[in-house]
Amino acid sequence: MKIFHTIKGLRDELKKCRKTGLRIGFVPTMGNLHDAHIELVKTARQHNDIVVCSIFVNALQFGLNEDWDRYPRTIRDDVDKLTAAGCDYLFHPADSEMYPNGLDTQTRVICATMTDILCGASRPGHFEGVTTVVTKLFNIVQPDEAIFGIKDYQQLAVIRRMTEDLCMDIKITAAPIHRETDGLAMSSRNGYISAVERPRVSVLYETLQWMVESVRNGERDFTQLEEQGRQRIVEQGFRVDYLSVCNSKSLEPAAVDDDEITILGAMYTESARLIDNLSLSLTRGESNAH
Ligand code: PAJ
Repeated sequence: MKIFHTIKGLRDELKKCRKTGLRIGFVPTMGNLHDAHIELVKTARQHNDIVVCSIFVNALQFGLNEDWDRYPRTIRDDVDKLTAAGCDYLFHPADSEMYPNGLDTQTRVICATMTDILCGASRPGHFEGVTTVVTKLFNIVQPDEAIFGIKDYQQLAVIRRMTEDLCMDIKITAAPIHRETDGLAMSSRNGYISAVERPRVSVLYETLQWMVESVRNGERDFTQLEEQGRQRIVEQGFRVDYLSVCNSKSLEPAAVDDDEITILGAMYTESARLIDNLSLSLTRGESNAH
């Protein structure tokens, strides 16, 4: 695997690939790679001739009181994992390469919908930081396909909308949520969870599963369902950020006759904020709950 720290270096290399007609798949990450990231790389590998991964802990998407400075940076391990997964190129730029004019005057990309609800409500400016850096990365890599995890459901929805609105000629592919054996969705932030709390954090996933089953069994009082779900999480000693039964496409609160429903949740442990979601289709009778 070749590693590039500069935009020009990566561009020159990818230009050559593109000239020979090779199809480029791209997996943007912030590093501290775990099995779920590697699954995205494998999906990119299956669909494309060339696989590019980026590792960049993007300050623009972190709030002032968030974990940008303590976000785990494990580049050596990450390089080994990417090499083993068959990644061809790693883009690992410094902050000064991505934001040479600083953060304050950086031109931003704003998605005008879905960004101030759910995670956007508790993390103001977060999605603006994501759409801005992803646009920059897309412009640098110019991939044919980019792979994103359903774990970050709202991020995926916002990126899909952005690519559509800005006529970006990139296929956005969604990869399923990869979980630990107890159901906890894999995340770089799971390393923040204390040993005392760890056995209890699967309550988020279990609550989402219980809510999916309730909806499938005919429950349509979503407000009451959300309240009961919150109770389950609070009983395990965690603070709920949100737990919402949403329309899968708009991410607005689900209507009683909606067919495609996604239940999204976020909760705070002592030192981590964890998110998860499950979708169900009432017409097709399917869900990703199991
Ligand atoms: P990061 O959190 O490193 O995630 C990189 C990609 O891995 C995202 O598409 C995310 O949805 C996916 N992913 C993480 N955990 C997953 C899991 N358990 N199952 C499935 N997919 C999972 O998301 C970001 O970085 C950043 O916001 C980024 C898009 C790179 C922009 O900075």
